[in-house]
Amino acid sequence: MRENEILLKEQLNDVVVKFVIYKPMIAASAKAGQFVILRGAENGERIPVTLVDWDAKKGTITVIIQSIGKSTFMFNSFKQGDLFLNILGPLGTPIDVHNYGTVTVVGGGVGIAEVYPIAKALKAAGNKVIAILGARTKSLVILEEEMKGVCDIVLPCTDDGTYGQKGMVTDVLKGIVTAGEKINAGFVIGPIPMMKFTSLLMVELGIEPYASLNPIMLDGTGMCGCCRVTVDGKVRFACVDGPMFPARTIDFNELIRRTGEYKGEEKRAVEEYEKNHKCKIGLH
Ligand SMILES: Cc1cc2nc3c(=O)[nH]c(=O)nc-3n(C[C@H](O)[C@H](O)[C@H](O)COP(=O)(O)OP(=O)(O)OC[C@H]3O[C@@H](n4cnc5c(N)ncnc54)[C@H](O)[C@@H]3O)c2cc1C
Ligand code: FES
Repeated sequence: MRENEILLKEQLNDVVVKFVIYKPMIAASAKAGQFVILRGAENGERIPVTLVDWDAKKGTITVIIQSIGKSTFMFNSFKQGDLFLNILGPLGTPIDVHNYGTVTVVGGGVGIAEVYPIAKALKAAGNKVIAILGARTKSLVILEEEMKGVCDIVLPCTDDGTYGQKGMVTDVLKGIVTAGEKINAGFVIGPIPMMKFTSLLMVELGIEPYASLNPIMLDGTGMCGCCRVTVDGKVRFACVDGPMFPARTIDFNELIRRTGEYKGEEKRAVEEYEKNHKCKIGLH
């Protein structure tokens, strides 16, 4: 086995791929809430992805990647046996794992993969863990069986009603609290508007909210300032101070604005990539 080698590739749906990679140093020290920065090629972008799972004995880490732009299309075309050029990590501050009582973990789309290690760690710390898995449609609901293995209750929901409850994660959360469940803390990962509205609802329902922020990142070590976010009126760097933050006072609107700053360049990069790799996108 070689460092950075893809030992296993599994297509979870049309756009999401799971990779198990040989990376013993990271596997030995990873903690829930941390991430790595991947590069696929010389001159390639540095792409942050969550450490979804790890096995210190086998020396492996698991990442789950959604094809969304040039770099993620390229990564998801890699095959078993291929090598990532380099993998930096573990990065970020692990979440505070203790017994909160009853917690909910809320994942939207590929965010379901990102809440999995958090659910696992909170369950091991003695919490009752209720997972809400939200997606646009049935095929985008991922890791349901794995979540059942580490949660007390797993509630899938889809926007179009093709699987689980029809509606959004906020509808499901409201429903379980109305039915009498007392939840102490909630951890949400997904698209920014979903994290914003889920956090607002949690505050309303008396649940302490935490959200994992996904600003554009560069170095991942607190030096470039690229991942600047505002929490409680203070500038914080998501790569070192987060990515998980208490969500009551996150400036989500600023985050939405800043992640959209390079939309034009990102669109052009995908068009260029599609031109050169037309037949490959989304098919591996
Ligand atoms: C700490 C952290 C953990 C992450 N974990 C995962 C993970 O486990 N799996 C996964 O698939 N993705 C994860 N992401 C998001 C991932 O880094 C982006 O999807 C990726 O950088 C997009 O690169 P690209 O070149 O493919 O697309 P780009 O061309 O850069 O972007 C394409 C589209 O995605 C949006 N985008 C760009 N950067 C981000 C971002 N950081 N977050 C969300 N949207 C973005 C753009 O606005 C644009 O609409 C994580 C991000 C952070 C900061
Ligand atoms: S990515 Fe550079 S400071 Fe966080």
